[in-house]
Amino acid sequence: MKVLSASSELFPLVKTGGLADVTGALPAALKPHGIDMLSIVPGYPAVMAALQNGIEIHRYADLFGGEVRLLRGTAKGIDIVAVDAPHLYNRSGNIYLGPDGKDWGDNGQRYGALSIAAADLASGSVAGYHADILHAHDWQAALAPVYLRFRGGPKSLMTVHNIAFQGQFPASLFGSLGLPASAFSIDGVEYYGSVCFLKGGLATADAITTVSPTYAQEICTPEYGMGLDGLLRARRNVVSGIVNGIDTGVWDPATDSSIAAHYSAKTADKRSANKRALEARFKLEPGDGILHGVVSRLTWQKGMDIFAASLDALVASGARLALIGTGEAAIEREIMAAADRHPGRIGVLLGYDEAQSHLVQAGCDTILVPSRFEPCGLTQLYGLRYGCVPVVARTGGLADTVIDANDAALNAGVATGFQFSPVDQPSLENALARAAACFEDKASWRKMQLRGMGSDVSWDRSASVYAALYRKLLNA
Ligand code: ADP
Ligand code: GLC
Repeated sequence: MKVLSASSELFPLVKTGGLADVTGALPAALKPHGIDMLSIVPGYPAVMAALQNGIEIHRYADLFGGEVRLLRGTAKGIDIVAVDAPHLYNRSGNIYLGPDGKDWGDNGQRYGALSIAAADLASGSVAGYHADILHAHDWQAALAPVYLRFRGGPKSLMTVHNIAFQGQFPASLFGSLGLPASAFSIDGVEYYGSVCFLKGGLATADAITTVSPTYAQEICTPEYGMGLDGLLRARRNVVSGIVNGIDTGVWDPATDSSIAAHYSAKTADKRSANKRALEARFKLEPGDGILHGVVSRLTWQKGMDIFAASLDALVASGARLALIGTGEAAIEREIMAAADRHPGRIGVLLGYDEAQSHLVQAGCDTILVPSRFEPCGLTQLYGLRYGCVPVVARTGGLADTVIDANDAALNAGVATGFQFSPVDQPSLENALARAAACFEDKASWRKMQLRGMGSDVSWDRSASVYAALYRKLLNA
């Protein structure tokens, strides 16, 4: 079965978050299930540089003000079609934001082009390829199912990685999208008088998934649905949650080239060498006390404002922190100020650093994920695999993937981390205290680490669920 995956990010070519990890891992994970996945992505500079033997399979003389070519080839081992459109994608810096830190003014055109190319490729309008299923990820690819619905083509699946990002644009964009007038309606992209990419995808895709069962429930409620819950409730019978896995080849402490010392469950005591390396890297006082880790976008979604406000308490409790992140300026400032107040106790790397994020998982005792909402979350899964015990908010995929160390779970010997709710300072600080107390009991801490390291965070199970869903759509 041929599946065309359309997304704006693809690891290891281009990544700003978990979306890339997921779209990058799925092709290999689905292969054993008989799925031949081709990935279509924008021709950003990093993609064009990595593309090998790109063959032109299609050319648009003018798409949103410039010539666009579809180039098929391989890039870092992945079978891709790059949408080569220099006027839309040949820009440096963050893929979504201009130098002023705001969304590029033409994101509607940039991702409209991705969606048009994906729909044309999937539906066989481009010679030499057709897809049995189109799999669109997030708002940037969400118009692709709309084109298939209004122009014809294969069945489509729309995956929501984060409903907070919807792709809303003025109605004036509609005329340039090449859709029939009937698509500017409740059954298409119209949303309170504007054009909303994600709304269009959710209204027209044959099936909708999100990245955990709990988040699938949550987005059908006004509290989490961000205005799209009514539509999702109306389509509830085609909405499901499939929890993300991780690429256990990229994330393997036994072979990871970004960490100081390799280890496995049998040699977990070797983690201490990574702790020493991390202390040096983050300029932390060396010590055997609990060392918390954070690898995160520094945003409201991630609860990082609440976390920043808890830093004095964290240090007062005797703990230390290593944090890598980048995001909202106010949160960055608050975290840097706390690091200045507590030299040697709080180490911060402001920015995006893939290699150091592996070292945090290998060297810290805990990974903290205090998100207000979290569709799936991957850092807690990396933590489980690396013996870095997750301390997480009880929401979305965090609730589904971490087993809280309550008395019942401890007695049953199944706990893998700590959950807290609601997301506020007292309950976060309480969770940190619970983790610190458990850390003092070396034997139970080691058991907790090993249970995490032994839990299945691979793609095996979820890949077969995706494969079954594709087949169901195809045969429907
Ligand atoms: P989200 O996609 O919402 O940001 P996820 O937990 O699904 O959250 O995925 C985040 C991904 O981005 C993980 O692979 C994480 O390690 C990585 N990441 C986030 N921030 C940074 C950073 N500053 N440096 C390196 N990697 C980061
Ligand atoms: C989004 C979500 C995150 C999820 C990732 C991959 O970025 O915020 O929770 O893990 O997509 O699905």
